[in-house]
Amino acid sequence: MTQTADQTTIVIFGASGDLTARKLIPALFNQYRKGRLPHTLHIVGNARSQYSHDAFRAYLRDETQNYLGDEFDAAIWADFSQTIWYQAGNATGAEDYAQLDAFLTEIENGPANRLYYLSVAPFLYEPIVQHLGQQGMARSKEGWRRIVIEKPFGTDLASAQALNEAVHEVFGEDQIYRIDHYLGKETAQNILFFRFANTIFEPVWNRNYVDHVQITVAESVDVGHRAGYYDQAGVLRDMFQNHLLQLLSLIAMEPPASFEADALRNEKVKVLSAVKPIPPENTIRAQYDGYCEAEGVAEDSITPTYAALKLFINNWRWQGVPFYLRSGKALATKASEVVVVFKCPPHMMFNPNEDDDCFTPNILSLCIQPDEGIHLKFEAKVPGSYLDAQSVDMEFHYRSSFGNEPLPDAYERLLLDAINGDASLFTRSDEIEMAWKLMDPILKNWAETDHPPVVTYPQNSMGPVEADKFLAQDGRAWREECEH
Ligand code: BG6
Repeated sequence: MTQTADQTTIVIFGASGDLTARKLIPALFNQYRKGRLPHTLHIVGNARSQYSHDAFRAYLRDETQNYLGDEFDAAIWADFSQTIWYQAGNATGAEDYAQLDAFLTEIENGPANRLYYLSVAPFLYEPIVQHLGQQGMARSKEGWRRIVIEKPFGTDLASAQALNEAVHEVFGEDQIYRIDHYLGKETAQNILFFRFANTIFEPVWNRNYVDHVQITVAESVDVGHRAGYYDQAGVLRDMFQNHLLQLLSLIAMEPPASFEADALRNEKVKVLSAVKPIPPENTIRAQYDGYCEAEGVAEDSITPTYAALKLFINNWRWQGVPFYLRSGKALATKASEVVVVFKCPPHMMFNPNEDDDCFTPNILSLCIQPDEGIHLKFEAKVPGSYLDAQSVDMEFHYRSSFGNEPLPDAYERLLLDAINGDASLFTRSDEIEMAWKLMDPILKNWAETDHPPVVTYPQNSMGPVEADKFLAQDGRAWREECEH
């Protein structure tokens, strides 16, 4: 059986890229400051660019300082930077792995755990895994070996299955950590605490009380410099297959018996497998005006930058309850939220109105970002009136309850979990395949037919009018509760 060694090495493949400088190193630095990383630690960057150890440290120092601003502490960085090394290498060159392994063995100078982090273009996942296997770097009896794989994990079900098979030839499932940074967000994890650490919400969390659920991940950024990737991917692969379906599973899953990785992930897989196939008429696709003029985008591209879906979950808890999901780029606001709209009271004795037998329904909104918190909207009597009710908001904000410290970045938690061997917040192979199984028919239909047509929307709007009509035909409307 593999032992846990006293020292740990994190090897970052693709270390000269954006993710390393903007997310991974600041996250590791923050955890180092908090004293949460293993006592003996090596962080080894690997990429094709040539850096000396010092040049690599200097580059990361500038980037981390930029990113953290006032939180950056130069004295702590001076200590932390001594754990950072650089070993240039070509991800597809066998001999470079021998050199990398020799370098790691030299700095470790004894038994060590190793976490390999793939922060590279997806076409390099397989070759890197194979080379790690061939070089004997995936197994050791003297320390654990784990691998973190970034998204996108495949581009459809078949490619995800093929990638899972290729990775499983070298690493066991218990060594594999497929990352979805939405699961590392404090507010996404809080969905589980909200539901399962309280008594009063779970009894109404079902088809008897819930009218419908909305999940919105709106982004104000446009495609930026990522057109090369994005124009191939589109919003369904970029946001729905992973982040939105993860939020859906946290909202809709049954209570697991424990917060243990497999107990949690079993329930997520169960709920995803209960989602009914999504027919074309329950989908909307759209592109923002001006997308085709962005650098790197094909001038006749029909890649959707916005999508909305309606789906149903075929189980006792959710039968008949629509879940509306939407996400898009270049929208008027950046906001991720889950809104649970409850049914109206069965009878209304205050100010009854013939056209409307319900006041505003109770609405619970879980604000994932940027104004992290939870709101519950309910009806209250207007003081001095006889029968008038008005909606009021009961609200919780992280900053007022837990102080003004910014919430830790998702990568802080996820990197620490991978080091500690806790895979609860990482996606299992069957889960990722299940998510692709749901997206594949939509992607196929969109690629092969004009139904639904690709519509456009102005930048800085909340999406196409067709998405509003999509809900209006069900007598509902999109809600932006978290802005208030
Ligand atoms: C990434 C997508 O996974 O998530 C990006 O590739 C998107 O296109 C990003 O902008 C959104 O993450 P966040 O944390 O800013 O909501």
